[in-house]
Amino acid sequence: MKVPPSFFLLLFLEACSNMTPLALQTAITGAAVPPGAVADNRAVHPEIWPKGQSGVASDPVVEARVADLLSRMTIEEKVGQTIQADLASVTPDDVRKYHLGSILNGGSSGPHGNDRAAAPEWLSTADEFWRASMNVAAGHVGVPLLWGTDSVHGNANIIGATIFPHNVGLGAMRDPALVRRIGQVTALETRVTGQDWNFAPVIAVARDDRWGRTYESYSESPDLVREYAGEMVRGLQGEPGAPDFLRSPYLLATAKHFIGDGGTDRGIDQGDNIASEEELRDIHSPGYQSAIAAGVQSVMVSFSSWRAEKMSVNRPMLEDVLRGRLGFNGFTVSDWNAHTQLPGCTGSRCSAAFLAGIDMFMAPDTWKGLWANMVEEVRSGEIPLSRLNEAVGRILRVKIRAGLFEEGPPSRRPHAGEWRLLGASSHRAVARQAVRESLVLLKNEHSLLPLNPQLNVLVAGDAADNMSKQTGGWTISWQGDGNTRADFPNGQTIYEGIEEQVRAAGGRATLSVDGSFAVKPDVAIVVFGEEAYAEGQGDRKDLAFEPKEGKNQQLLQNLKAQGILVVAVSLTGRPLYLTPAMDAADAFVSAWLPGGEGGGVADVLLRKSDGSVQYDFRGRLPFSWPRRPDQTPLNVGDPEYNPLFPFGYGLEYATPQKIATLPDTSPAATHLGGLDREG
Ligand code: BGC
Ligand code: BGC
Repeated sequence: MKVPPSFFLLLFLEACSNMTPLALQTAITGAAVPPGAVADNRAVHPEIWPKGQSGVASDPVVEARVADLLSRMTIEEKVGQTIQADLASVTPDDVRKYHLGSILNGGSSGPHGNDRAAAPEWLSTADEFWRASMNVAAGHVGVPLLWGTDSVHGNANIIGATIFPHNVGLGAMRDPALVRRIGQVTALETRVTGQDWNFAPVIAVARDDRWGRTYESYSESPDLVREYAGEMVRGLQGEPGAPDFLRSPYLLATAKHFIGDGGTDRGIDQGDNIASEEELRDIHSPGYQSAIAAGVQSVMVSFSSWRAEKMSVNRPMLEDVLRGRLGFNGFTVSDWNAHTQLPGCTGSRCSAAFLAGIDMFMAPDTWKGLWANMVEEVRSGEIPLSRLNEAVGRILRVKIRAGLFEEGPPSRRPHAGEWRLLGASSHRAVARQAVRESLVLLKNEHSLLPLNPQLNVLVAGDAADNMSKQTGGWTISWQGDGNTRADFPNGQTIYEGIEEQVRAAGGRATLSVDGSFAVKPDVAIVVFGEEAYAEGQGDRKDLAFEPKEGKNQQLLQNLKAQGILVVAVSLTGRPLYLTPAMDAADAFVSAWLPGGEGGGVADVLLRKSDGSVQYDFRGRLPFSWPRRPDQTPLNVGDPEYNPLFPFGYGLEYATPQKIATLPDTSPAATHLGGLDREG
């Protein structure tokens, strides 16, 4: 390509300029520890971690209330506070009987077994569970429960909600203020349906893009993640000290997954991070630093291991580092049945994690046995009462700070049941702005873009009119698969957005998934991408998108062969090896996983009918783009950094640049592809 090498050096230097000296050193030396040498070297040195402070100050009034509640609660009630059950495996009666402190809806759980339940049913379900938790019969202390949900890109479990781009796209925006605004809208729409705890933001720093959760990561750059984490927490929780902090329209946020989830070996989900302690600190903790400064009140502990030990039992990290050094003062929650994976533990018994500093167990379907055994373990002294009081105290403290004891049932809290807020046009406008800002222009031969909307435009590719591919995982269902157009009453596909504007301008846009046409178009926009996926299932063995003779590549080449100008738009949760597609197309745009507002793509690709530019590109790569399918890990700061497009790259209309034919350095590419790591 024509970009001079000095250009990369410049970008590298620019990226380094705001790194800490240690991050810089790590970036330059790589400092990776050879595998094998690590398992016996996981001593934690809290003193090398930065001393941080929570944005939430300790308050004697709150402390007195915590002490009073603890003094009135039985062991059974206390144990109940430390356990969270999943909607699919718990009833309000269970909550009443076992005094459970929290429920969640996992990615595929919904009220009464219906993942697609209508919004009012979510809210009435929230009330039923809340009422059960407030049971004061027989002298019980009614402690309002928290309902946790994964509103990781809007309240996207709910049909009709505004769906934002996934984090990878937000990373491309480089717009912290918009991130905060997205947090506010997400919190508000989640309050409408009655949930008061969001398992977001993911502040993973994905370092190997084979990881299926790369799209949940803002960036490979710790600096960008640091910049965003605090903003998102403020957007979700509000300002510490303000009267509405943690109260509707805000809610409780979760920084997850502590720590090093994005740095596992080979990008394997729930895998082993073999980094040095310094790398954990410099790469994976900056997001926690800003989230804690913003007052984040819960932290989800990672499924992953550090040097062959699961984080969920790493007491030095959970207690001495997270609290002692970084200053966290909320409560920790484990990940989905993570305790079942720990040595010496079963689904129904795991004092080790509790003693290590897990304050609340996410025990979706294992909660009942766990509850019974914990009660017994406290009675026998295996779990000291002091540790139980500590964990419950942390949970109660957050519940008090959130005003839960005063707020009443979910349906009576501000904005609950205001259905018009779900997918409100002002909210969709925020999402659409995010889509526009997240698009990254990688190639624009002959300044093909922006397109004149009065042309005859063919819109092709199987992602052009495909809500499931646009929105990805964690959308209505866990993996985001199986969603149809009808599941998105408030969204717009990319094709619909283009068609609307082209028609308004007097042009013509035709949808043709396979690229066939009756009248030769002036230009084709080909939209293609990954199938929706979430954790686990999205892991890859390499970064190949499809074989060279794959159907998308054929589509691009067929159109070119007919003398048609081609704009390619890729929908992927991460940079993938797409050099052949980039070479085949005249213009290439990475749109990541843009979410529900496909119209944002047309806003940037199309001119106004008077010929002027609507919106220029402003997206910059949040991840380095690989030259080869096997070029991973690939991160800015690597000693021999040689990406196809460097971190921070992105073209603009304002400064047209020509990109020559890209070097296809991948003879093996034809044989690669597919999601099967073993295959
Ligand atoms: C996910 C849940 C999901 C469940 C399905 C878990 O790992 O986090 O949200 O519903 O698996 O089995
Ligand atoms: C995921 C978490 C999520 C939880 C609940 C887990 O499998 O790792 O990110 O919050 O499930 O759905």
